[in-house]
Amino acid sequence: MLMFVCKQGQPIRLKGFDMNHPATHAQGKPQAIARIRRQYPYNNVVMIGDGITDQEAVEATGGADIFICYGGVVERQNVASRSDWFVRSYDDLMRCLKRYKVAMVGSGAWACAAVRMVAQSTAEAAQSPASCFEPEVTMWVHEEKHSGRNLTEYINEHHENPVYLPGASLGENLIANNDLIETVRGADLIIFCAPHQFMHGICKQLAAAKVVNRGAKAISLTKGMRVRAEGPQLISQMVSRILGIDCSVLMGANIAGDIAREELSEAVIAYTSRDAGVLWQQLFQRPYFAINLLADVPGAEMCGTLKNIVAVGAGMGDGLGIGPNSKASILRQGLSEMRQFCKYISPSVRDDTFFESCGVADVIASCYGGRNRRVAEAWCQRRMAGDQLVSFDDLEKEMLNGQKLQGVLTSDEVQEILEARGWELNFPLFTTINRIIHGEVPPDMILRC
Ligand SMILES: NC(=O)c1ccc[n+]([C@@H]2O[C@H](COP(=O)([O-])OP(=O)(O)OC[C@H]3O[C@@H](n4cnc5c(N)ncnc54)[C@H](O)[C@@H]3O)[C@@H](O)[C@H]2O)c1
Repeated sequence: MLMFVCKQGQPIRLKGFDMNHPATHAQGKPQAIARIRRQYPYNNVVMIGDGITDQEAVEATGGADIFICYGGVVERQNVASRSDWFVRSYDDLMRCLKRYKVAMVGSGAWACAAVRMVAQSTAEAAQSPASCFEPEVTMWVHEEKHSGRNLTEYINEHHENPVYLPGASLGENLIANNDLIETVRGADLIIFCAPHQFMHGICKQLAAAKVVNRGAKAISLTKGMRVRAEGPQLISQMVSRILGIDCSVLMGANIAGDIAREELSEAVIAYTSRDAGVLWQQLFQRPYFAINLLADVPGAEMCGTLKNIVAVGAGMGDGLGIGPNSKASILRQGLSEMRQFCKYISPSVRDDTFFESCGVADVIASCYGGRNRRVAEAWCQRRMAGDQLVSFDDLEKEMLNGQKLQGVLTSDEVQEILEARGWELNFPLFTTINRIIHGEVPPDMILRC
């Protein structure tokens, strides 16, 4: 240890070493750590320094658990390469030492499949002292009854959501809560995955309660947008605008049930700040869930939203009994109109976004699986069989057990934008699908647009 003397009015000068301090002799730092461990009941000890003896204090028996190499004064490659983290500033250091509390807003099929992955990641990470996540994850449940009990209580007792994702274990570290404000209070990482029609009300409630930390980060898994007189607002923009926090998005060919069965899937995380993207990737990535990072939030989010309209069109085609050639032409036209719409609304959207999981892959998955396709197929079959009264609302209730059909609502929202801007002729598939939904043209018009 260096000792300094400072006489009044005199510059500080070095007096010498405190030769009794353990840090001044070989193996002294591990001894100091052992002394700290004896004195205090710490679970983990973090060594921060820039020298080789600091690094060795982690390798010694009974030494520190992790080593953060601080390069703010001097950078030593041989020390940095053996560190758990390398930082150059105090802010980076604080980020490394922080453990993030994670909250999920939503408890439907996709919300549960997604939070299950997050809870797996945080539980696994908790085994390592270097984890940056709190193991416990909270999830807001829009309360309802199941077998005469509150769904929230059932989830906390059985670690499963029997209404929206039956048969999938959500993990014992996942805590359901029917109070939105309490679920989000103190969270550093907030995941939004409620159906898009509820998102504005949710954001407003959170803003009014002032529970969202200023430094918190958000990610939206919700597919949809809000239409306002001044133009469309993406859900990530709504979250950022109302809550004043950064919002990334996770989008992809992700059918909830398949992911809950841990079938190999891909997604993209689109970010505005790369650090946030990397952090979210750490949280969501699983051996069966591969994530690409993408710097195109509007492109990824609009793809995720618009593909639900194409899926409704594909379902109508299936209801008519069309073959693969005709169905492929709906998919192709749909993808092309998705791209055009994205470019009209946000010219900076990148072309390669359409080749990511949020683009062509999500179109394929939703047009062959997924609820929008399934309900549209049933609707079309019933209409063709002469049932002119059947509506999408009826079938949503009849077939989806509380799950929400997003494609029909999104079709109406997008059509409002197309009409307001006089773009209908440039989007023949989107427009025809909307007219079929409203009974203005017969279902087989899907093959003639
Ligand atoms: N299901 C999937 O496979 C899938 C995949 C990718 C993305 N998504 C998207 O994820 C989002 C959420 O879908 P999901 O599958 O998790 O939900 P879901 O459709 O399975 O369930 C509907 C949810 O809405 C809740 N709810 C009902 N009324 C409400 C209200 N008034 N306020 C707030 N919540 C209410 C219900 O409790 C339930 O949790 C949607 O935007 C959807 O497009 C879904």
